[in-house]
Amino acid sequence: MNREQRWDPERYAKQAGFVADLGQPVLELLAPRPGERILDLGCGDGALTEKLVAGGCQVVAVDASAEQVAAARARGLDAHVADGHALGFDSEFDAVFSNAALHWMKRPRDVIAGVRRALRPGGRFVAEFGGHGCVAAIQTALLRALSDRGVDGQAHHPWYFPTDDDYRSELEAEGLKVETIALIPRPTALPTCMRDWLEIFAGPFMAELPDGERPGFLAEVCEMLRPALCDSHGRWTADYVRLRFAARVP
Ligand code: BEZ
Repeated sequence: MNREQRWDPERYAKQAGFVADLGQPVLELLAPRPGERILDLGCGDGALTEKLVAGGCQVVAVDASAEQVAAARARGLDAHVADGHALGFDSEFDAVFSNAALHWMKRPRDVIAGVRRALRPGGRFVAEFGGHGCVAAIQTALLRALSDRGVDGQAHHPWYFPTDDDYRSELEAEGLKVETIALIPRPTALPTCMRDWLEIFAGPFMAELPDGERPGFLAEVCEMLRPALCDSHGRWTADYVRLRFAARVP
């Protein structure tokens, strides 16, 4: 996970609750059965973990953010701070599940190797995250506004958005058998506005900007994006593309 990204669980729940709300398709792909032991990788505040527990699963949840883990624990969940690149589990889960988290983990081979070790023989890895082209307009506007200020945005780029072919290769290289994998364009209506989205998700891009420059920077990025992502009623959409897959230990 990216060390420059900070999470505020209260704000996240209010302004980014849609991330878990839109997790239903990947939950359906997981098809959890009561009694299964499941690792939720990148659990955030535990909104989806809670659904797995309600369905009768035994769930261990991990996230790199201590703040999000505290929020998940406040729901009564078995949540722990852990780096997804260095999972320490050994053949103990029927499934590893992940929603909207893997794009924050930029070394996929390390992540998948840890997932593979965590799974029992026959266990499955089912996940959804940002795929190739995700928030392309937003990334372009951020990089442009940084470059205009003499900052190399790529040096702070926090996200990994692979193609389906590339991620299939990563999964297969760690010995997983891919059952299904697809890129799914999913333009996503934002509950408030682009500025709120940027403040929640795009913090790492602003690492080099002095605090006093950030409001002007954010306003400029929003104006660049307005023609493409804001309608005539002021409603903003984020240009999300998801990568959804199920893979299994043979
Ligand atoms: C997400 O939570 O799905 C997301 C976060 C940052 C960039 C793109 C997607």
